[in-house]
Amino acid sequence: MDEKLIVLAGATGNLGGRLARALLQRGAGVIALVRVGCAPSKIEELRTLGATIAEVDFSNLAAVTSACSGASCVVSALSGLREVIVDSQTLLLDAALKAGVRRFIPSDYCIDFTKLPPGTNRNLDWRREFRERVDRAALAATSILNGAFAEMLTGQAPIILFKWKRVLYWEDADQRMDFTTIDDTAAFTAAAALDSSTPRFLRIAGEQISARGLVSAASEVTGETFRLFRAGGLGRLQTVIKVARAVSPANSALYPPWQGMQYLHNMFSGQAILDPLDNGRYPRARWTTVRDVLAQGKRR
Ligand SMILES: NC(=O)c1ccc[n+]([C@@H]2O[C@H](COP(=O)([O-])OP(=O)(O)OC[C@H]3O[C@@H](n4cnc5c(N)ncnc54)[C@H](OP(=O)(O)O)[C@@H]3O)[C@@H](O)[C@H]2O)c1
Repeated sequence: MDEKLIVLAGATGNLGGRLARALLQRGAGVIALVRVGCAPSKIEELRTLGATIAEVDFSNLAAVTSACSGASCVVSALSGLREVIVDSQTLLLDAALKAGVRRFIPSDYCIDFTKLPPGTNRNLDWRREFRERVDRAALAATSILNGAFAEMLTGQAPIILFKWKRVLYWEDADQRMDFTTIDDTAAFTAAAALDSSTPRFLRIAGEQISARGLVSAASEVTGETFRLFRAGGLGRLQTVIKVARAVSPANSALYPPWQGMQYLHNMFSGQAILDPLDNGRYPRARWTTVRDVLAQGKRR
């Protein structure tokens, strides 16, 4: 077994590509598992970085096992519905076990789902389901919990409404929430993949900030005056989620609108806050702040 050989599933994705780069920068060997029929441009990019490509059928246990052979850790950055998070990751886990791999990092990269009641977030329920499987397996698993990707604040997350100079919040403007950039998450995960003594969970946050803090950050960065906008209490948000889910179940979509609202509910409830943080576990000059992200990002 090579302590510096890492198998990476999902390397063609957004987080996965950054993980491949971060691992290679740390001197790791990377075997990137890609789907049969993967776009040649994606493979070429990974090859140029220095990764070894293993084109596999993710339903073929023997093929995935053979690709995992000799590695010290399997890192998953897969993204998808239950068939990916539970089914494909279970096959990947079985392959890792058969190949004698000792460590596994599942594709969690989220808020602290361990503290949330089941049924409050569909996508996180699948992670909980996979957790039960990986915790029964004879290898060491480590989940990286990073809160929300900070880039969501200038993208999909309906929190900072740049056009209206408002920061929308539910229930409590002072509830802190966790935000970490995708690159910082990738760098920390790469360090964890190469660390043979990681605990079951590692929690990181580039910044913990409330809606009120976001008002200051957005005002400072844009030079314009942002204000708070209270959308309602958590009870109302729960009702909106129920109605949205009934009207438009969109169960085959990864992020239907009600799914995003479930994340908001979890975050504004304070239940999913990351504590304590493991930010200091590996040497790092500084973590990217929300202000950095707002300054760099495209504003709506
Ligand atoms: N905390 C946050 O705010 C936040 C936000 C976004 C994502 N995330 C998490 O970060 C992780 C990675 O997400 P991402 O945004 O990087 O995803 P992404 O860019 O969509 O990439 C997904 C990866 O999974 C692969 N994949 C998808 N379905 C597959 C299947 N059936 N079999 C094999 N491979 C499959 C894709 O391969 P192809 O290239 O072949 O399609 C790709 O490599 C996920 O756990 C996601 O939930 C967290």
